[in-house]
Amino acid sequence: MAEGKLLVGVDIGASSIKVVQLKESRRALTIVRHAYVDLPRDTIIDGHVMNPSAVTEALEQAFAQAKISQKEVAIGVYGQSVIVRKIAMPLMTKEELQESIGWEAEQHIPFDIKQMTFDYEVLARFPEEQRMDVLLVAAKRDEVNDVATIVRDAKLKPLVVDINAFAIQNCLERSLGTLPPDRTIAVVDVGAANTTINVLSKGTSAFTREIQTAGASITEEVRKRCNLGWEQAEAYKCGAQGGLVPQDVNAAIDQACANLAGEVHRSLDFYLATSGEADVTRVYVCGGGASLAPLCRAIEEKTRRPVEVFDPLSSFAVDGKVDEAALRARAPQLTVALGLALRRAKEVRA
Ligand SMILES: Nc1ncnc2c1ncn2[C@@H]1O[C@H](COP(=O)(O)OP(=O)(O)OP(=O)(O)O)[C@@H](O)[C@H]1O
Ligand SMILES: [Mg+2]
Repeated sequence: MAEGKLLVGVDIGASSIKVVQLKESRRALTIVRHAYVDLPRDTIIDGHVMNPSAVTEALEQAFAQAKISQKEVAIGVYGQSVIVRKIAMPLMTKEELQESIGWEAEQHIPFDIKQMTFDYEVLARFPEEQRMDVLLVAAKRDEVNDVATIVRDAKLKPLVVDINAFAIQNCLERSLGTLPPDRTIAVVDVGAANTTINVLSKGTSAFTREIQTAGASITEEVRKRCNLGWEQAEAYKCGAQGGLVPQDVNAAIDQACANLAGEVHRSLDFYLATSGEADVTRVYVCGGGASLAPLCRAIEEKTRRPVEVFDPLSSFAVDGKVDEAALRARAPQLTVALGLALRRAKEVRA
């Protein structure tokens, strides 16, 4: 069995908190507990936690609701303060790289490097061309610390801080297997406030982009165009009216979906034009927006690539005590939390 203890995956999204705990046996990884707790609107704006105590309360509620006593958690960070870049560098040794990565990072990170925490990994070496590819990952130190403090205030121990896009990748590769080198796919996480696009090529992230248009912007567009209250517009969008949706509302939903799909398309075009890597052959959609059928159709139409809703549950067993219907109803929304729940604490030896 792999080293280290599995952590509880905690995804703090703009609209809700998702928590998943897995149990490992020789045969399977089983979802034993999970919780979903809505956050009050405007708790998190533009990736910043405006109301920390609302998040702490929701975390406590989620752990109580799911009856999780384990305190060690993995959390994810995302948004504009997170940067993932694949960079080309001259071929060098580990030690040389360690020395020069700070300077290199400064060239690629559009923020003051002193405010960032960063990590890197050599993806591939090409000795005949005297170059190598390095994946550089950086996040604003203050933002990471702020989230960790909120989590600690809920009496939890954040042992691992991951990047949401990597948690999704982890989950996806568990389901699909490691992607063959000739297969390039895009994963689009459509949340409430953010859409994250991650292109996976040769088993690693070749391109990531965050767009600040997502589920909430679709609701907002419908609200404005049809002169509705927010709750009403949200209910129509989520199909809570049992299909009885006025025609103008449907048209507004379609229009908003087309706008977001257009942005996804532009991002893929940008990737193709700038990366020199293979074209994307399939788009997987996850996050709450994946449940919006017109959005998946719109992405398919705009990008002219097959679109699939990613089901993160497919590679896990589900414990008999879990409310499976509730779990399945939210499946695409649980992708990040599941990916985080796959993370392990380093083994502490006595
Ligand atoms: N059945 C549904 N149909 C359409 N949209 C849905 C459905 N269920 C949830 N959504 C939308 O998905 C969004 C929430 O998704 P998710 O939980 O992935 O976001 P989040 O993680 O809270 O936000 P973010 O990732 O932006 O921080 C909301 O905008 C919500 O309206
Ligand atoms: Mg999210």
